[in-house]
Amino acid sequence: MTATTTWSPASSALLERAAAYIPGGVNTCRRRSEPQLCFARGEGAHLWDLEGRRYIDYHAAYGAILLGHSHPAVTERVAAAMRERVLFGVGVTEAEVELARKIVEHVPSAEQAVVCNSGSEATYHAIRLARGVTGRQRVVKFQGSYNGFHDSVLLNVLSAPDRVGRRDPGSAGMLEAAVDATLVCRYNDLEDVERAFREAPGEIAALIIEPVGHNSPGILPEPGFLEGLRAICDREGTLLIFDEVITGFRHGLGGFQALCGVMPDLTTLGKAIANGFPIAAVAGRREHLERFNTTRTGDVHFGGTYNGNAIGVEAALATIEHLERHPVHEHVFRLGARMRAGLEAIGEDAGVPVLAGGYGSLFVLCFMDGGPLRSYEDVLRNDAALFGRYRRELIARGVFEMPESLGRSHISAAHTDEDVDASLEAARDALRAALR
Ligand SMILES: Cc1ncc(COP(=O)(O)O)c(C=O)c1O
Repeated sequence: MTATTTWSPASSALLERAAAYIPGGVNTCRRRSEPQLCFARGEGAHLWDLEGRRYIDYHAAYGAILLGHSHPAVTERVAAAMRERVLFGVGVTEAEVELARKIVEHVPSAEQAVVCNSGSEATYHAIRLARGVTGRQRVVKFQGSYNGFHDSVLLNVLSAPDRVGRRDPGSAGMLEAAVDATLVCRYNDLEDVERAFREAPGEIAALIIEPVGHNSPGILPEPGFLEGLRAICDREGTLLIFDEVITGFRHGLGGFQALCGVMPDLTTLGKAIANGFPIAAVAGRREHLERFNTTRTGDVHFGGTYNGNAIGVEAALATIEHLERHPVHEHVFRLGARMRAGLEAIGEDAGVPVLAGGYGSLFVLCFMDGGPLRSYEDVLRNDAALFGRYRRELIARGVFEMPESLGRSHISAAHTDEDVDASLEAARDALRAALR
């Protein structure tokens, strides 16, 4: 596949037409792929492009899809609810109460929860809450992490090698003061975190971290790292925020905190909580959550016209109830391990150094030498050109993984052993072709 625009002429034509009305033709910055692709249908583990070609999908809408595309338990419940109610904008519904109750039941550090509509909203609210609670301004985040699109965290995400560890805002138009208020640390490096706290004594309101570094991707917390962060935050009076927008519900009903045993003060949830429908949540201790001005005395603003709309709430309830009743996590963890082992064997057979990173249902085949991924610098060893060629060859063989450097892939409940076998066969072939 060389002339990428001709892979799906219908997709290219649609994107071209779209560009007249939508800047660049897409509604989110990372949706333009090479080859250009648009999809018409998604069901279970599969997507169909505009030419009607079928793909096994591991992009999973950046991880939002956990049960499979258009899962009937979710879509039917949403459709039924919509006939009665969409949004009232006053009071609360039974379903909203039930959803908050379920989050509190499952997420160990949660005593209360509020919902909004996207992961970025959730991290925005969590950080502002931490500022309100502590009376401090500054935030610590990690190099290579994505915690949403707002000014306090959109820096040092997928930094170019010469920007790592330096001031690296992710957009024009960001408020300089917000960028300056955020300190960036190296993942798995407690000494670097101590350095940040020494640099800004008594000034750090929140430390926000993806408890598994999936946005880099594939960086796991080393033993003691998350515990060390908890201890530093306790000592410094800083709120520890686990950004579980990816890990929440995908790795278990209780999120990664239930697996690692380290309890944050605040948790942000999104993506897999509702299998593709828009909803997110901020959860945490009652003493903190009651600072939101949803209470009579709260002084931290929490608002949003669409918060608690029936579509997101019912989708989340349907997803959580499905996860409670079916061994989804066992299934996706098993297939994830099979996939990673299979991909490493394929790299070995091909004589190329590879590292199949990821955790649970997530995987990413990186082309690199050397030991485990500890921090973002390690991820930069990936051979981006080979990675891109390999992913494009995969697409030509009916397996969709996002063809952008370091794009992570996700297994859903709808994937089967046969899908993994077929994908590994395609991967073997695709790697051979990419190496030619
Ligand atoms: C860890 C993490 N936090 C926050 C966000 C922002 O979520 P959203 O895109 O729903 O605003 C993302 C999105 O990829 C994410 O991966």
